[in-house]
Amino acid sequence: MKAYIIELPKILDPRGNLTFLQNPQQIPFSIKRVFWTYDVPGGEQRGGHAYKEQEEVIVALSGSFDVIITNPDGYSEKFFLNRSYYGLYVPARTWRHMENFSTNALSLHMSSRMYDGDDYIRDFEELKNRHTHE
Ligand code: TYD
Repeated sequence: MKAYIIELPKILDPRGNLTFLQNPQQIPFSIKRVFWTYDVPGGEQRGGHAYKEQEEVIVALSGSFDVIITNPDGYSEKFFLNRSYYGLYVPARTWRHMENFSTNALSLHMSSRMYDGDDYIRDFEELKNRHTHE
């Protein structure tokens, strides 16, 4: 399974636009947890790990940043998020980090699982081994 961009519904309105998502129409899992990062200093990175089980959808609610997915073969893919009506679906066992945050960037993550430190894969070699033995 690969990461992919989800174009979310956009209700254009002269009073201000509105976007929403719900399962299963826009995202392929039920949301168990939401977290967000903000006030990221210029040049900083967040993430830099994979999850064993959890899947997520990431939205740039304001500002912009890049999500870099590094595949087990070392090849990486960059998704530039800069609109609040695009979500990036990131499956489990996917190495990802966020960088290139703009001023006021707000990165919303909707996750399929409650927080669990044991669900993290922080060693790229371990991720590679898991893919090899899948
Ligand atoms: P972490 O996911 O490691 O952030 P990043 O991958 O961007 O470095 O989370 C940073 C810290 O926040 C870590 O100590 C765990 C804590 N945390 C929670 O307690 N609950 C959560 O839902 C999340 C995402 C993190």
